[in-house]
Amino acid sequence: PLPERFSLPFKVPPVIRPTSSEGTTDYFDVRAHTATVEILPGVRTEIFGYNGTFPGPTFRVRKGRTAVVRTTNDLPVPIVTHLHGGKTPATSDGYPTDLVLPTSGWKAAAHQHHSGLAMEGVTAEGTRSYTYPNAQRAATLWYHDHRMDFTGPQVWRGLAGLYLVHDEEEDALPLPKDDRDLPVMIMDRAFESDGSLAYPSIDPTLKTTPGVTGDAHNGMEGDVLLVNGVPWPRLAVKGARYRLRLVNASNARRYRVKLDPEPDSGEPFTLIGSDGGLLAGPQETDSLYLVPGERFDVVVDFGKYRPGTKITMKNSLGDGSTSEIMQFVVGEKITDSTSVPSRLSTVERLDPAKAVRTRSFTLGRDREDGHWIYKINGHPFSTDRSWADVKRGEVEIWEFTSTTHHPIHLHLSPFQVYKRGGSTDVNPEDVGLKDTARMAPNEKLSLLVRFDDHTGKFVFHCHNLEHEDMAMMANFTVT
Ligand code: C2O
Ligand code: CU
Repeated sequence: PLPERFSLPFKVPPVIRPTSSEGTTDYFDVRAHTATVEILPGVRTEIFGYNGTFPGPTFRVRKGRTAVVRTTNDLPVPIVTHLHGGKTPATSDGYPTDLVLPTSGWKAAAHQHHSGLAMEGVTAEGTRSYTYPNAQRAATLWYHDHRMDFTGPQVWRGLAGLYLVHDEEEDALPLPKDDRDLPVMIMDRAFESDGSLAYPSIDPTLKTTPGVTGDAHNGMEGDVLLVNGVPWPRLAVKGARYRLRLVNASNARRYRVKLDPEPDSGEPFTLIGSDGGLLAGPQETDSLYLVPGERFDVVVDFGKYRPGTKITMKNSLGDGSTSEIMQFVVGEKITDSTSVPSRLSTVERLDPAKAVRTRSFTLGRDREDGHWIYKINGHPFSTDRSWADVKRGEVEIWEFTSTTHHPIHLHLSPFQVYKRGGSTDVNPEDVGLKDTARMAPNEKLSLLVRFDDHTGKFVFHCHNLEHEDMAMMANFTVT
């Protein structure tokens, strides 16, 4: 039985503390293992959890301090961790075949990769350390599993968490902080009648054959909306400004988030940041469209509502149980010393006139040997083929087209949305620095990209995790 909407209290995921620190490096220990947790009230659900929680613990790190995350895999299957939005060296970026094998041992199964191509990777036995330099501006990042062919089911079972980068520039702004700065990590899930998470894997042990049955290759969606792991929670807020960090951590579901009722004056959302951190200045908007992987930081002023007002965060793309996300109950007005300055940060705009080349990518799919293969430029993912050899520091234009929806995600460096459907007149969602963007059917999405940080081989892919698992991924190489 599903809980009544807005009957459960809002929760903030636990924050992980470093095990030790040395100079400018903090060491964290994470153990991935199965755990039984209560997501639906009174029901026990087995998950795959970083430190056994769903979602995993939240990292709060500071720009300029390196985080070393020693990860032990006590799950029965390999894992790979990717810091989504991180400017991470290739060796720690969670390349899909850089597996951390289970501590219990792993016999390479007679595993037929979807593309039928060889997979090369660097495997670690049981434990490996990921090094995140955090040489990047304050932003809402997240981390999740990225195992070749099995990302969808492993994230679905719980391998995802938040990673918040803080810096002095942002700390100096009068934005809402502490208990008025809250993550809203949205995921949808489905449950079997015995309480287990429902996911239509061809091989539910996740050991041999990848893939999903039926229509789930289109992207797996569930009928239960969770915020920070809680179904449709309720949050009591004061009559004051709050910063909400919206994260779409769903496998495939897209949301258009709105508030109901809207305030009497002004727009409900003041957008202050996106994937890559603060915008140059705030944008007022009545709704936000989030595709899987995207984040938006907004300020909502609950001081504009009468005490006692119940405000529902809605998803206008959903229906029935997926049309509502959570609820806020407004309390007494308090003195609010926070504000949203009209200048938030300096964001360099990449100049399209400086672009040295344009690359075009078409996303599509084919049916082969009874299953779907999702492709970029007519090819499924292969670990040894690079689709773009880019020089560090050069501006390029990358164009994406498809007849269907695909959230585009590039590892390593943030990009800017240049044009949609040929027009530079883009949506509020497109204004800031991005690492994931919505590609709508038959609307060419043009991005301005520049890779400034590390060299090596990285991936870009569709962030619909089922499409990704069906090979809609490609390499780029930075030299
Ligand atoms: Cu959030 Cu390559 O992924
Ligand atoms: Cu896709």
